[in-house]
Amino acid sequence: MAIQKVKQSVFSIGVKHWDRRLFDELIPLPDGTTYNSYLVEGSDKTALIDTVDPENLNTLFDNLTNHGVSKIDYIIANHAEQDHSGGIPAILAKYPESKVVTNEKCKNMLIDLLKIPDNKFIVIKDEETLLLGDKTLQFFLTPWVHWPETMVTYLQEERILFSCDFLGSHYVSSELFVKDEAKVYASAKRYYAEIMMPFRRNIIKHLEKLKDIGIDMIAPSHGQIYDNPKFILDAYKDWTSENVKNEVVIPYVSMHGSTQRMVEYLTDALIKRDIVVKPFNLTVTDIGELAIELVDAATIVIASPTVLAGPHPSVAYAAFLANMLKPKAKYATIIGSYGWGGKMIERIVGMLGNLKVELLSTVLVKGFPEENDFHALNDLADEILERHKSLNL
Ligand code: FEO
Repeated sequence: MAIQKVKQSVFSIGVKHWDRRLFDELIPLPDGTTYNSYLVEGSDKTALIDTVDPENLNTLFDNLTNHGVSKIDYIIANHAEQDHSGGIPAILAKYPESKVVTNEKCKNMLIDLLKIPDNKFIVIKDEETLLLGDKTLQFFLTPWVHWPETMVTYLQEERILFSCDFLGSHYVSSELFVKDEAKVYASAKRYYAEIMMPFRRNIIKHLEKLKDIGIDMIAPSHGQIYDNPKFILDAYKDWTSENVKNEVVIPYVSMHGSTQRMVEYLTDALIKRDIVVKPFNLTVTDIGELAIELVDAATIVIASPTVLAGPHPSVAYAAFLANMLKPKAKYATIIGSYGWGGKMIERIVGMLGNLKVELLSTVLVKGFPEENDFHALNDLADEILERHKSLNL
C-alpha cells in the first residue's frame, strides 16, 4: 500500500481496506474503510499516530520498512479500540525503544485489552504537549467520541488535527484528500449516524473546545483527509444541532400485506401534506441507510405486524437500534396490524426509552385495513403535520 505525503515530514502510512463490508460485525461498509496511521518525523523524535487493525499489520510494517523507519520514539494512541490500537504490541516488539503516549483512561484500557506492560506508557493530560524537536504535538481529551478514553492530537506547526474516529468516514479512495465532497458527505453522515450520533452533546462540547486552535487539515483514522476542514465541521454542526427536518422515517415489516398497505397509505397521506417520507422495508434495508435518515427526521413511525404477541423481530431490531443511536427526533408513533391479539405496540414503546420524543396517536388494525383505519391514518398524518408546523418546519 502506498505511503502518501500529507505535509513536510508527515506521512499517511496506514491501510486501505477496499473490500471490507462489515464493521464490528454490525455496521455495513458499502465503501470499504481505511485504518489511517500517520508518521510525524520531527528533527529529534519520530511519532506514529495510531496503528491499524491487526489483520492488516503486515501492510503497516511494509510501509515502515519501505519508508526506512528504523526508530519510533512515540506511538500516540488516540483511542483504545483495536482497529487503531491492535497493532501497538507488535510495533512495541519491533521498535522496543518506543513508548505509548496516551491519557490515563486509554492506558488502562490498553492494558486490559492488549496486555501492554505498564512501563511502556507515557501518560499525558488534557492540552499537554510533546516535543519532537521542530514539531510539537498537543493532546486534547475528547471523551465519548465514541469511547470514554478518546482523544485527538494536534500538530501545532502544521495545524493538522489527528482526530482518530472523530469526524471520520468509512470511505476508501486512492486519493489522500477529500475531492468528491458530496460522496464523502454521504459517507461521513452514515458514519456519524452509526457511531457518533449517541454522543451528540459530547461532540458539541468538543467542537467548541477545538474551535479556536486553528485547523488547516483534519486527518482522521478512517477515510480521507479534510484539507477543507470547514466542510466536515459545518456538517457536524448541522447534524448535532437541535434542528430537525420536515421528514418522517418509517421502518417497517409486513408479513401478509396489511402493514404494507398501512405504510403505503400513510406515506401517500404525508406526501399530500408536503412532508418528506422515507419508508424502509426492513427485510431489504441496509441499516446504515436507515441510520442516516434518523439523523434529521422530526418523526419516526415504526410499523409492524404482530408476531407471537409482539413486534416482528426485524422491527424489534430496528427499534432497539434506533433507541441506541438516540436520534434527535421530536415525535414517534407505532402503527401495525394483528390477527388475534397481543401487545405489539406496548412492547415497541417499551424499547424506546432513550428517545426524547412525544408519542403520537398509534394505529392498530385487525386484519387488513379498511375505511375507518384509513381515516385513522389520515388523522395521524394531520397530527404529524400539525406537530411539524409547530416546529416551523
Ligand atoms: Fe475506528 Fe472506535 O474505532
